[in-house]
Amino acid sequence: MIDLRSDTVTQPTIEMRQAMANAEVGDDVFGEDPTVNQLEKTAAELVGKEDALFVPTGTMGNQLAILSHTSRGDEVILDSESHIFYYEVGAPAMFAGVQLHPVSGLLGRNALEKLRHACRQPDIHFPNSRLLCLENTFNRGGGTVMTPEEMGSIYELAKEYNLAVHMDGARIFNAAVASRCDVKEFTRYCDSVMFSLSKGLCAPVGSILAGSKKIIAKARKYRKAMGGGMRQAGVLAAAGLIALKMVDRLAEDHANAMKLAEGLAQIDGLKVELHRVQTNIVLAEITAMDMDAQTFVDEMQKHSVKVVPFGPRLVRFVTHKDVSRDDIEQAVNVAEIVIGSI
Ligand SMILES: Cc1ncc(COP(=O)(O)O)c(C=O)c1O
Repeated sequence: MIDLRSDTVTQPTIEMRQAMANAEVGDDVFGEDPTVNQLEKTAAELVGKEDALFVPTGTMGNQLAILSHTSRGDEVILDSESHIFYYEVGAPAMFAGVQLHPVSGLLGRNALEKLRHACRQPDIHFPNSRLLCLENTFNRGGGTVMTPEEMGSIYELAKEYNLAVHMDGARIFNAAVASRCDVKEFTRYCDSVMFSLSKGLCAPVGSILAGSKKIIAKARKYRKAMGGGMRQAGVLAAAGLIALKMVDRLAEDHANAMKLAEGLAQIDGLKVELHRVQTNIVLAEITAMDMDAQTFVDEMQKHSVKVVPFGPRLVRFVTHKDVSRDDIEQAVNVAEIVIGSI
């Protein structure tokens, strides 16, 4: 099976499994797990923040950030296609009790104008705009990168309006590798960042939330409240430490994604915007009549290629460590057969 549904399907490496077996551990709720402490310290340094917190999932990292930056009734501005708005189960309403203010195209063109428009003026009728959430790379945008320059000008405007800025950087290392720059070029323009260890970096479990000491202290307490205070979590953090050394390999996924995109773009009945293929995600629109995304996905699976529907006629392919160049060629051949079969 060629699994292009997500980079979350990656298997941990042998080195990770060995490190997990041999990890030195302690009770992390008492702050006594040396491997977790090492991971948090290394991760904070890597993204240029004062402190970091190891969390089970990216979703929990994002929600802890929202809880830590806001008070009940505050408003959080974000793109209407962002992961936090689209895929996190309405958690900001459940846990932080905040109102989300989704803005269409916020992560695209005219971001500054859209942000300015979304920020509330002081008025007894209005909620307080408190937090801006960015997403880099932008999953539903097709893995596109918001450049450090773009982030810088958004950050500056956010500060004018007194907004904290959280970045859902589940794939921020993909952005850094694609831009050939240090990840700190991006993370300097946010007050907190979540990034995943369990996607292209191949760890079996875990994400990091990084920010100021104050924000991370709050997030640590909220993590406990949410039942995320793990005990001998060093067995997981050990894999995370290796994941942090695997950043450079993401370039291979990006090259494979471009190869895949070019192949799919040749198929009559599929449309791929090649300029939007910037990292490891490829979105293909089905232009062939009489086929929707779900049928395409089902037919691909019959030929042993897994992808996910991303809209009525949109399909997402994600490249990662466990798909080879041959697999990419095979996936393109299968897509051609499936589209040709209607
Ligand atoms: C952009 C983005 N943010 C957050 C998440 C959430 O991560 P997790 O699945 O670890 O909760 C994902 C997961 O796919 C994601 O793509």
